[in-house]
Amino acid sequence: MNRSGLMNAVIVPGRNYTEQAAKIASALNYQLARIHWKEFPDGEQYVRIENPELLSSKTAVIVNTMYPGQDKSIVETLMLADACLRAGAVDVKLVLPYLAYSRQDKLFLPGEPVSFSIVLKTLRHAGATGLVTVDAHSPEKLAEFQGKVVNLLVSDLLVQEALKYSSNPVVIAPDKGALKRAEYAAVKHRLRFDYLVKTRDRVTGQVSYQPREVSISGKDIVVIDDIISTGGTIAEASKLLLEKGASSIIVAATHGLLLGNALDKIRSAGVRKIILANTLASRLQEDIIEYVDVSVRIAEAVEKVLEKVG
Ligand code: R5P
Repeated sequence: MNRSGLMNAVIVPGRNYTEQAAKIASALNYQLARIHWKEFPDGEQYVRIENPELLSSKTAVIVNTMYPGQDKSIVETLMLADACLRAGAVDVKLVLPYLAYSRQDKLFLPGEPVSFSIVLKTLRHAGATGLVTVDAHSPEKLAEFQGKVVNLLVSDLLVQEALKYSSNPVVIAPDKGALKRAEYAAVKHRLRFDYLVKTRDRVTGQVSYQPREVSISGKDIVVIDDIISTGGTIAEASKLLLEKGASSIIVAATHGLLLGNALDKIRSAGVRKIILANTLASRLQEDIIEYVDVSVRIAEAVEKVLEKVG
């Protein structure tokens, strides 16, 4: 990255990701804007850049994440983009490691909206021209942002951590959609990879598996996924793999929402360890969970998104 790019960009931290934003600013030697945030009694948010002069003629890089508090975080990011442009920023880039609504990326049932499309278009409409995200659920849908996008895969970093607990594991995608991220990590670490065939009842959300031959008997397994939400996918996949003779299961997932009793489900399915990236504002203190810091890789991606296209 040419150093003038560094001088011309300012990191603008979102409320959900202030600590990571500061880390990214320091890794890149960028200045950091100070944000005053408050909530009105009716629940509406207010933001103000306390040092707006910093933004004048600069590119604003808003660093936020969208979980928890997805809707608030979307609105906050839009308000920050507007505030940066009004303070004289010449461009706005977004760093949003977790993108909310990414799983409603098409019509599954008649009468639904495509929520992810709305989020991407709204962010673009607010003036952002570039986006860095981590392990988007459907990377091909990011084109709807209609700007420069860097989608970082971090499954290799998660598997690297998983290798501390497993020996020559087979990397398994719990559904075909996760195959690319499993392949990416497996190829980097010279491991075998395969996938399972999952179906989900669109009304109840219940996950089930179709028969498919995978040769894993006696092997350690690393199950790779983008999101753990209710834990149904990971729990059902892990049970199936253990029934098929796997000797141990480590889970490596990028975004660990782990809602409700997800952790209990995963524990009782026989999983030994859950390795997660630190892409969310929530962090669970549990022996079974380990977090991998991906902020250095995000910082590298910020440099890419600031480079001029072409
Ligand atoms: C689905 O296609 C995703 O990649 C994840 O497998 C899914 O979102 C996980 O959700 P849950 O933990 O509720 O099964």
